[in-house]
Amino acid sequence: MSALKNKRILLGVTGSIAAYKACEIIRLLRKSGAEVQAVMTKSATEFVGPTTFSALTGKEVLTDMFIDPPPPGEIHLHIAENVDIIVVAPATANILAKTAQGIADDLLSTVLLVSDVPLLFAPAMHHNMWQNRATQTNMDTLKKHGRILIQPDYGSLANLATGEGRMAEPAVVVSKIREILGIPQDFHGKRVLVTAGPTREPIDTVRFISNRSSGKMGFALAQAAIDRGAEVTLITGPVYLKSPEMCSVVTVETAEDMNRAVRKISTQQDFIIMAAAVGDFALPSPQKSKIKLPNHTLTLKLQSTPDILKGLRSISDAFIVGFALETEDGEKNALKKMKEKRLDAIVLNYANQPGTGFETDTNEGTLFLRGEKKGIHLPLESKMKMAHRILTEVKKVAAKEPMKS
Ligand code: CTP
Repeated sequence: MSALKNKRILLGVTGSIAAYKACEIIRLLRKSGAEVQAVMTKSATEFVGPTTFSALTGKEVLTDMFIDPPPPGEIHLHIAENVDIIVVAPATANILAKTAQGIADDLLSTVLLVSDVPLLFAPAMHHNMWQNRATQTNMDTLKKHGRILIQPDYGSLANLATGEGRMAEPAVVVSKIREILGIPQDFHGKRVLVTAGPTREPIDTVRFISNRSSGKMGFALAQAAIDRGAEVTLITGPVYLKSPEMCSVVTVETAEDMNRAVRKISTQQDFIIMAAAVGDFALPSPQKSKIKLPNHTLTLKLQSTPDILKGLRSISDAFIVGFALETEDGEKNALKKMKEKRLDAIVLNYANQPGTGFETDTNEGTLFLRGEKKGIHLPLESKMKMAHRILTEVKKVAAKEPMKS
């Protein structure tokens, strides 16, 4: 589940050519499970129509303080009290000035004045307006009042002039929203490859060899990395899970397919987390029709699949994390795998303990990190919580030592 799931976000849109970028912000937020209520100023509606915003948010767009017939209660109070954060994107010089001076002369400015949730502004304007001393003074005032501002970008402006004043990109605004809502953005700018699920090795056209992996641990890791700002690729075997949003998903079937998919992009990654339960054996040449069983027995000749993880160190500088699913001698086996596969970290978990391993929503294990003598106990908790803990610990070690070259 995305960390923005069920978060209530009020998006104020003001009159700037960058209003079209607010559409993408809504799309990204809603894909992450957030609820978005749009409030537009009159001049914003000159740039993008309210119909677009109501279609994107799935809610009526609010533009007026005085609605006919009047709704019960006070509309500005009702809106302000029922959100986790207010984001104004794009924010014109006018709304910045009004908020800094405490002016409330329309619905959005009134909501901003009455609200006590975090306020985030993404300014957008001509560079002369941005550099104007009045705007800069208003910015200082807003900062002093604890408002959060995203610096506009330098680049080509609406009239093709170049300067500082372009609204920050929607992904940057969303990343800032996550950070304000308490989700660390420590993987921002990092590329993370996660593998998940089982692989299937065909026997014939209808049968296959596989394992009980549900993919839940790998999907939780991918979602946690997305929530923390990473650019994530998820390579998954056949699973029955909804793919996370805001990541690139590659579906594969066999160990050989997964090997090819992983190797293709492994050199471009900062982190590789192999949570997939890759099948160890496959038929060298599966039959192209359905096998008939005349004698009630069937002997299959299997050969080992490529060890994807083992082959990665020689081609990738990424921080590589493996998983070890054990039934006995866990620590000994996990450390052996970590050494033999030349990993930076390995997560030991058990297939034969209640609440851990395959198919469950929870997991428990031990994380071994390179350079650390003792493993870190990962207590029995949801796979999502465990995923976040793994990322936190891995990031600490990766930050200490630069990636291998
Ligand atoms: N792995 C892999 N390629 C394989 C088999 C495993 O990349 N062909 C990876 C898994 O994704 C996991 C790690 O290696 O991160 C350990 O997998 P595991 O199944 O625990 O161990 P194996 O290496 O398969 O050894 P064994 O089955 O003997 O325990």
